[in-house]
Amino acid sequence: MNTFGRRLPGVVYGGDYNPEQWPREVWQEDVRLMRAAGVRLVSLGVFSWSVLEPADGRFDFAWLDEIMDLLWANGIHVNLATPNAAPPPWLATDFPETLSVDRQGVRHGIGSRGHLCPSSPVYRDRSRRIATALAERYGQHPGLAMWHIGNEYHSDCFCELCDDRFRTWLRQRYDTLDELNHRWGTAFWSQRYSDWSQVHLPKPVRGWVNPSRELDFSRFTSDLLLELVTQERDLLHGITPDVPATTNFFQCRLTDSHRWAKELDVVAFDCYPDPGKPDAMAVAAFQYDLMRSLGGGRPWMLMEQAAGAVSQWKNNQVKQTGRMRLGSYQAVAHGSDAVMFFQWRASRQGQEKFHSAMLPHGGENTRTWQEVKALGNELRTVDEVATARTAAQVAIVWDWQNWWAVEGCAHPDNAFDYRDTVARHHRALWNSQVAVDVVTLDGDLSPYRVLVIPNQYLMTSQQSAAVRKFVADGGHLVVSCFSGIVDEDDRIVEGGYPGALREVIGAHVQEFSPLPDGATVPVQGAGHSALDGFSATASRWQDDLVTETARPLATYRGGHLADRPAVVEHDLGLGRAVYIGTRLDDDALEELVRHVLDRADVLPVHEAPRGVEVTERRTETSTYLFLLNHRQDEVAVTLDRSGTDLITGRQLEAGETLFLDAADVAVVRSTSAAPRQAEPSSSDS
Ligand code: GAL
Repeated sequence: MNTFGRRLPGVVYGGDYNPEQWPREVWQEDVRLMRAAGVRLVSLGVFSWSVLEPADGRFDFAWLDEIMDLLWANGIHVNLATPNAAPPPWLATDFPETLSVDRQGVRHGIGSRGHLCPSSPVYRDRSRRIATALAERYGQHPGLAMWHIGNEYHSDCFCELCDDRFRTWLRQRYDTLDELNHRWGTAFWSQRYSDWSQVHLPKPVRGWVNPSRELDFSRFTSDLLLELVTQERDLLHGITPDVPATTNFFQCRLTDSHRWAKELDVVAFDCYPDPGKPDAMAVAAFQYDLMRSLGGGRPWMLMEQAAGAVSQWKNNQVKQTGRMRLGSYQAVAHGSDAVMFFQWRASRQGQEKFHSAMLPHGGENTRTWQEVKALGNELRTVDEVATARTAAQVAIVWDWQNWWAVEGCAHPDNAFDYRDTVARHHRALWNSQVAVDVVTLDGDLSPYRVLVIPNQYLMTSQQSAAVRKFVADGGHLVVSCFSGIVDEDDRIVEGGYPGALREVIGAHVQEFSPLPDGATVPVQGAGHSALDGFSATASRWQDDLVTETARPLATYRGGHLADRPAVVEHDLGLGRAVYIGTRLDDDALEELVRHVLDRADVLPVHEAPRGVEVTERRTETSTYLFLLNHRQDEVAVTLDRSGTDLITGRQLEAGETLFLDAADVAVVRSTSAAPRQAEPSSSDS
């Protein structure tokens, strides 16, 4: 049921609102200032359970009635939360089994949030009961725009109830114990099970773990938490069939958002790039591309971001002048139809009282408030982009199953950081200013000309067949080391590494040869190859690579693998695969990626200086070009099209130079621009 765009047209602006933390006089000021800032949607009641239901079955909706009416009287819609992320103290006291248990067997106490056992029938029942009460009471309220189910699901649990459920999940998956023994490789270290009662979730063990069991436990936890979401979604849809429902993602290891997104009406994401880190905006771009791709053509929402500094890190840096605005437009540039914050008004008590907010403790006389207010009003100028979608010819693979597996057990290099690895590959594309979708190998790869697979250690036979088909059909593949190594059970794909990809890359790896911390080996383009003149530094990893039908593109120039191939290319069918058998430095990785993009005739969205992010959103009649200057200085961009800058209203001509101050943004609408990329695919993802 997707009525999100109809209920909330344009680019939605707002944030989490926690009025229960404030006296009623403040509510009046809140709505006045919300109106001044152009707030159109607030997420309400996310952590309100103990106030809404002070004792088991005793509800107090009076304050919520009042605030719902007050907001709506001021034209503000509500994204009403089911409050299950923070169970009230009475639930824990009356039913201790509702509290989560950590891996060491310690049952969590109250006083924080997320302290819930996802299997507990009582927790489930009371969550459902309050969700039902909210849906029945506010389902017809004109201000209700959407449902916000729970908050950032990430409660794993190791209690007896979850142990039982894990066994049930395994029985459904494998049917017989023999199959489970086979899948988990229990012949290793005498782990063979002879009765289902011996099978447990992975509690602490004496030494090293069974990685296949760990992998299944990750799958189970993701499925278990998703069950909570779909049960509430069904309940809410049953009472309010037209009200879209979502839950807010973060890039959480526990929840496979590729699966989860399919169950939601709108994808929503909480994004907290660290202003202190130089690559923060590139990481945000990756996450936004992921969210857009998860939506598969449906809208997505930036549900939470910080107006300034957060408070949960060791050192919490502010967003300097203009950077909150820039980051907000960045989300819109990547397809978000909303710019939302955590939270509206800075709390005066509690763990997050130093977390920035749209309205800081200092009130209206603050830089943050002025910027928040200005942005909310300015966003009206770009409302029309909300129906526009993005087309990409390049895809990068990000896969939760692989994340669980590749960081799950003893590997040749255990300093592996999958998130960082994918971010580095994505950054090479981001710097190349091309549009990128973030996919798994289970989806349709046919819209893409270039596919980048960073360290996809786990690859099912269907996935490797899809990669083979992609290349054979004319695709350009970049795949980096330690990919195609194991199947879905974490079992080596035999026949020489990388078993799942050997035919695609036309080479095999005799031996993995990780480099010690800090060690580097020079790499150079192979003479007479397309990378003649290429010079790079390898670190962390070397494959001892033997070419079969592949050609070396670059070789090591030192170390024990001197003169052996570091990068190879291989023609297969109508396409070509480039395999990187090491970790190249960032510049070299980018150069290599650009080489492949050139070969595939994938052009940048628009020419712009480095550090200027360029994206496009399109409707059938208009193209919206976003130019985002992440640099600290002014830049000049010579336009390849005429159009109107929606923000300034300025008419621009093709060939004209547009100057953008540091942190400034332009959104140029054209009706006649010849697309530089192929037309949007039907799925728009
Ligand atoms: C989010 C969470 C919010 C708030 C915020 C602080 O992860 O959903 O409730 O805690 O972080 O940055």
